[in-house]
Amino acid sequence: MKILNFGSVNIDYVYGVPHFVKPAETVASQSYEVFMGGKGCNQSVALAKAGATVFHAGNIGNDGLWIKNQLDAWGVDTRFLSITDGPTGHAIIQVVPEGQNAIIIHGGANRAVTSLQIQEVLSHFGQGDILLLQNEINQIPEIIEAASAKGMTIFFNPAPMTSDVLQFPLDKVDVFIINEVEGQELTGQTFPDQILKEMNEHFPNAAVLLTLGEKGAIYTHQIARFEVEAKKVTAIDTTAAGDTFIGYFVAFWAIGKNLKQCLDFATQASAICVTRKGGSVSIPSKEEVLA
Ligand code: RIB
Repeated sequence: MKILNFGSVNIDYVYGVPHFVKPAETVASQSYEVFMGGKGCNQSVALAKAGATVFHAGNIGNDGLWIKNQLDAWGVDTRFLSITDGPTGHAIIQVVPEGQNAIIIHGGANRAVTSLQIQEVLSHFGQGDILLLQNEINQIPEIIEAASAKGMTIFFNPAPMTSDVLQFPLDKVDVFIINEVEGQELTGQTFPDQILKEMNEHFPNAAVLLTLGEKGAIYTHQIARFEVEAKKVTAIDTTAAGDTFIGYFVAFWAIGKNLKQCLDFATQASAICVTRKGGSVSIPSKEEVLA
C-alpha cells in the first residue's frame, strides 16, 4: 500500500508578536524566522518521520528548491513534486506568546496543479493505495474523482476551510479529518457530538476524525467510537500541530495499528510539536514520540 499526499508546500514567514495585529494597527514583531511549511508539506514530513513511505505531489517555484532538498533528506519521496515558473506558495504567520497563531496564505505554485499533472501522478497509484489531501491546492474535486475511480482510499483534511468545499465530491471521501471550525462549516452544528452525528448521517460510509485541540480527538465510523485526551504541555507555537497529528495518524493507520494506537501516537507527536517553533521542523521523529 503506497501513500500519496497531493498537497501544498509553503515558505512560512513567522513573526513573534505580543498580540495579533488589529484592524488599523501596526505591530512591531519581536522575532522573525523563515521555515518550510504548508499543510501538505508538514503532513508529508509527519508521515515520513513516523516511518511511512510517502510520495508528495504538488508544485513549488525555484525559490522553494531548498524545501525539496530538505524533504528528500527527511525521506519524503519528491519525484512528483514539480518545479513551476511562478513563486512557491507562502504563509505569513503571527505567533503570540501563548503559542497560538494567525495565518495568511498565498497559494503561488500550489494553485498551478493541472489535469495533466493529476493524470500523470495518479497513473502510478491504484486500488488500495492511500491518497491524503488538504485544501491548499487547486483541482481538489478532480483529484478526488480520479483517485476514487482507481479505488484509492481517500483521507481529506479540508483545511483551510472554504465555502467551495461543500461542492466537492465528498461522498467519495473515506476518512474526514476535521477540527471544530471545519466541522461547524461542514454541518452547521456547533458541538462536537452534533458535528459527528451530522457527518455520520451525511456520509454513512466514511469515518470521521474530529480533532479538538486541548480537548483531544474523537474518531467515529458507523457504530465505532474512540476518544483520546490531549497531553498537557506548555505550548510555544501551535503551528503544524494538526498536521503532525494527521501525518502520524495516517502513517500508523497504514501499517495496521489499531485505532487507539493511531490516536495515541498522533496525540503524543502533536504534543511534542507544540513545544517547538516552526512548521515541518517542529515535527518529532518516531523515536522521540516512542520515548
Ligand atoms: O498548518 C500549518 C501550516 O498552515 C503552515 O505551515 C502554513 O504554511 C499554513 O499552510
